Amino acid sequence: MKVVILNDAAEVAKYGAEIFVKQINKKPDSVLGLATGSTPVAMYQELIAANKEGRVSFRQVSSFNLDEYLGLPGDHPQSYRYFMNDKLFNHVDIEKFRTNVPPGDANNPIEACLEYERMIEKAGGIDVQLLGIGRNGHIGFNEPSSSLQSRTRVKTLTKETVEDNARFFEEGEFQPQLSITMGIGTILEAKKVVLLATGEGKADAVKQTVEGPLSAACPASALQFHQDVVVIIDEAAASKLDDPDFYKYIETENRRLEKHLGL
Ligand code: PGA
Repeated sequence: MKVVILNDAAEVAKYGAEIFVKQINKKPDSVLGLATGSTPVAMYQELIAANKEGRVSFRQVSSFNLDEYLGLPGDHPQSYRYFMNDKLFNHVDIEKFRTNVPPGDANNPIEACLEYERMIEKAGGIDVQLLGIGRNGHIGFNEPSSSLQSRTRVKTLTKETVEDNARFFEEGEFQPQLSITMGIGTILEAKKVVLLATGEGKADAVKQTVEGPLSAACPASALQFHQDVVVIIDEAAASKLDDPDFYKYIETENRRLEKHLGL
């Protein structure tokens, strides 16, 4: 696992965005795996700026989001479809019909999950998957105890996740406790995975992910099995790692090697 430790959230956003810009410029019809939550927002702003500056075009890009609340239609302001339109899709030259978010209003959510898997496969698989991480180590809505080989399915949210996300809902407003989420097995099939985490609240989850035992207690630890993962974090999120200097040293050496090879 490659761990990149940066000074602050703004640098994390820039670094993450550059990976996506590079990917799309290398393969204009890239299939992106996208994420919601507060962490990716700054990275999406970087991508919007890059698109406006003409440094990247999303015209041929397609996308699959990790998850959606079950019970919310896509035009509900708290739905993740709405979030993606609002934070990214409405501001770049992506074709909306090529953007996919699990259908929170599906009549048959179980069938919708199977169909989502088929669609990812038909698109040729995900080239780069963006992830945030929950304080409890969840990725997508794969809460602790999720099977490390799980596929897209209906998942019940933990009390902690519901509380963490309550800030987005009005008092008394219906807040879903169920979701549709890509599984951990689905995520592990992405060709590349980029995980962003910032702030001290994520430090325990980051430590478990990078250094902890492989365990369903921390779903993100399953990423230890993936061959191309980059974990991009700020100093606060890195604060519980055993040896941050070692990760910084590796990154410096990687840069030196890339320069030497002209990459
Ligand atoms: P956050 O959520 O970016 O809002 O902290 C991350 C997650 O729960 O996956």
